[in-house]
Amino acid sequence: MKNFEQFLLNHLPASKSIHPTYEEALQKMLVAGGKRFRPALLLGVVKAYNPLLVGGACHAAYAIELLHTYSLIHDDLPAMDNSPLRRGEPTLHVLFDEVTAILVGDALNTYSFEVLSNAPFSDYTRVALIRELATNGGLGGMVLGQAIDCYFENRPLGIDDVRVLHTNKTAKLIAASLKMGAIIIGDEKLADELYDFGIRLGLLFQIQDDILDVTQSSEVAGKLTNNDKAKNSFVTLIGLDEALREADELAEALTKEMDGFDEKLKNELLPLLVHYINRHK
Ligand code: IPE
Ligand code: IPE
Ligand code: MG
Ligand code: MG
Ligand code: MG
Repeated sequence: MKNFEQFLLNHLPASKSIHPTYEEALQKMLVAGGKRFRPALLLGVVKAYNPLLVGGACHAAYAIELLHTYSLIHDDLPAMDNSPLRRGEPTLHVLFDEVTAILVGDALNTYSFEVLSNAPFSDYTRVALIRELATNGGLGGMVLGQAIDCYFENRPLGIDDVRVLHTNKTAKLIAASLKMGAIIIGDEKLADELYDFGIRLGLLFQIQDDILDVTQSSEVAGKLTNNDKAKNSFVTLIGLDEALREADELAEALTKEMDGFDEKLKNELLPLLVHYINRHK
């Protein structure tokens, strides 16, 4: 991931202008860090099968991180989750203003596809990657999930509908990260298998995020916690104990699934996933 961080610093969105804070705002949340979970998944798949492609794959990994970061900036806006803290830093609407946060989100969203369009792969692969990121991060994926999340605040959903919500707002982008790794190495069968696995992994990731909302302090999380009371979170709907049980069950199923993976894929992905899979043990 050292390569990735360097790539990110070398390709920060830049825009010199008469605007005194625009460029700083564009870069702020990217350099603030975060777990870089989605880039690590993509790069893990590429590293397992074709380490020579890891440098080029950084374009795709960064594109996902850009789109994800835009989604967080908009997620924190007063109109959405109204959060003052992200990645241990004040959110952009607090540090600057709402206009800035909205526009930086817009800019990172489109910059994500600009970066991807410059990836050093064949046109066929590049278009496939762009399609995957747009399909999962856009109107029928992350954005749909966010729309459902916000529309149904204070309107409790059934647990199956919450699975649909979490699948869209979080799991599809995580699944796309693994799938895009497989697209880069040119293995279509693996791409489909990893997508399905990634959907279940992403659901686990969001259930655990719902759990952290009630178990972790804002200081440790680096973002506002205890903020999901009006939300259709797993904890809000079924309580902490049931949410933990659900997470454990999903983690166990994923562990079994990973036994069927190639040894080299397991070696790359297990260190990234072990934290999520064993969290409650
Ligand atoms: C937060 O994502 C939003 C969710 C989908 C739960 P992350 O937990 O990956 O946030 P960062 O990237 O580490 O900041
Ligand atoms: C947001 O989910 C998922 C996104 C698509 C950004 P949350 O609202 O639960 O994410 P956090 O807890 O603020 O990171
Ligand atoms: Mg939210
Ligand atoms: Mg939020
Ligand atoms: Mg959350």
